[in-house]
Amino acid sequence: MCGIVGYIGDREAYPIMIKGLQRLEYRGYDSAGVALISKSGQLNVYKKKGKVSELSAFASTHDRSGSIGIGHTRWATHGEPNDVNSHPHFSQSGDLVLIHNGIIENYASIKAGLEKRGHAFLSQTDTEVLAHLIEDIMVHENMKLGHAVQAALRQVIGAYAIVVMHRNDPETLVAAKKGSPMVIGVGSDDYFVASDASPIIEYTKNVVYLEDEQVAILRKGQELKIRNLKDKEITPYVQKLTLELESIEKGGYDHFMLKEIYEQPRSVMDSMRGRLLSAEGEIKLGGIVDHEKKFEKARRIIFVACGTSWHAGLVGEYLFEELARIPVEVEYASEFRYRNPIIYPEDIVIAISQSGETADTLAAIELAKSKGATVLGICNVVGSSIARATHGGSYTHAGPEIGVASTKAFTAQVTVLTLMALHMSRVRGTLPESRYRQLLYEMEAIPSKIDEVLKLNDQLKEIAFTNKDSRNALYLGRGVCFPVALEGALKLKEISYIHAEGYPAAEMKHGPIALIDEEMPVFVIATKGNSYEKVVSNIQEVKARKGRITAVVTSGDKEVKGMSDHVIEIPETDELLAPLVAVIPLQLLSYHIAVMRGCNVDQPRNLAKSVTVE
Ligand code: G6P
Repeated sequence: MCGIVGYIGDREAYPIMIKGLQRLEYRGYDSAGVALISKSGQLNVYKKKGKVSELSAFASTHDRSGSIGIGHTRWATHGEPNDVNSHPHFSQSGDLVLIHNGIIENYASIKAGLEKRGHAFLSQTDTEVLAHLIEDIMVHENMKLGHAVQAALRQVIGAYAIVVMHRNDPETLVAAKKGSPMVIGVGSDDYFVASDASPIIEYTKNVVYLEDEQVAILRKGQELKIRNLKDKEITPYVQKLTLELESIEKGGYDHFMLKEIYEQPRSVMDSMRGRLLSAEGEIKLGGIVDHEKKFEKARRIIFVACGTSWHAGLVGEYLFEELARIPVEVEYASEFRYRNPIIYPEDIVIAISQSGETADTLAAIELAKSKGATVLGICNVVGSSIARATHGGSYTHAGPEIGVASTKAFTAQVTVLTLMALHMSRVRGTLPESRYRQLLYEMEAIPSKIDEVLKLNDQLKEIAFTNKDSRNALYLGRGVCFPVALEGALKLKEISYIHAEGYPAAEMKHGPIALIDEEMPVFVIATKGNSYEKVVSNIQEVKARKGRITAVVTSGDKEVKGMSDHVIEIPETDELLAPLVAVIPLQLLSYHIAVMRGCNVDQPRNLAKSVTVE
């Protein structure tokens, strides 16, 4: 969840650190820090609670010179966010500094051992223990930095991505990872290292993704050396980055979230590009062709995911059951992994994850694999840990998502799930050809329908204004739009800190109805479909209790208009595809409400984009 950046070469390291940390801030923003070794051999470490901007303001009056450095932006796990607990952390002598993303689970026992040997610790973090341990090994076992890192990591239980630097060896950075991502940028005569490629792309497109339990030695002007923890030398596999700089910049929008909402006509199209061939009546999903036989006989599909991706899984449940007639279960990865679930080899487990790094989802994958299930992934980040850990799958191709509240990743996930379900309906012969073709054509029309909804922005701003001071909100939907209600509520609470709940509309009378009064905004997805009349009745129930109704309806709807305070008319589409269109106004509403309340939309408090701890 934390962001890591490092540099060694001939350039000034500090600007690379700060710019890199700003790009990585979506990973955590409780505190930030940098360490630099100046030309005169001075080790300068600056750490500040709060955002990267506070760190750079502080550092601006201090020595920032040096062409070797490491930087970190933190999402606190052990120890509250304050200057002391911020990274980089020092070793006992203060000569070695280390940044870390992850959790050292056995840090307490390592710490106790070190304390017996006279080590004293400044912070409450697990990370500081590792800095001490590495130095202890260097001193007592007379090892160089790289070997000491290997030896220390052999003792560690947990997840980590670390970068280490030593005052007495200002030409070397050592990086290692297990369970947390790390990418090395290979420049002409220099090296970059970071949690993802965003701090690197403007300097080099040649990158090496470090694998678990690998340790990289980055020496200025020398070849990249990688060894595993057993000291076996690994030949680095240098890949070309396809990421473009403009895709990770705001491009004129006030916030990444708004940019990403507006990107959806294109990102949904990109998710279908080359896969949906409506004229031929074909769907091509290269990453799952080898598993089609499995789907033919599949006993069950289990989706595992967290957060917004879990909501996409719920939409997937409706799609796969309706179209491909396969029973589906949707599991929170964090619950699944600890529940001793019953998994059969004939089961297909599909992990859904934007980042491809979510720790609980990764652990769920390992569990499912150990029970012999086929495990597929639906990920956005190419080359991510989940993409690599699964037997196959499909990328969503939505492009980098930087706003912490997920938007375009959700619609891209639902798009891929729809294509998968439709394709499997073919493989299993569960859908009449005419219905299959009809849905293919409808899918093609979705990007332009999303575009239509985006034109409602001014109206949505007005509705946002009337709801911005609410303390609670209720979101209702039925069928395939029930997960949209959940997602609408999640967006609102994530970025505006208004308490919100999503409910299946008919369940409202079993509890939430008690909350309804004239103060309570109720957002209802009431688009045309099988349960339309039922939802209309639910709206009546809210109205009878003076709830303030905003309804998302199919264009031209008159009935709901008559009973609602506001209606948002969205273009008609097939009922099964409605989530792709109906979620858009809810994203925009949350965005505007959060902006009007003065909230930090792209970096909501306490949240992180990529949750690499359990
Ligand atoms: C965090 C993010 C959410 C995201 C969830 C799952 O909580 O803030 O936006 O939905 O993690 O992340 P994933 O990358 O696995 O989709």
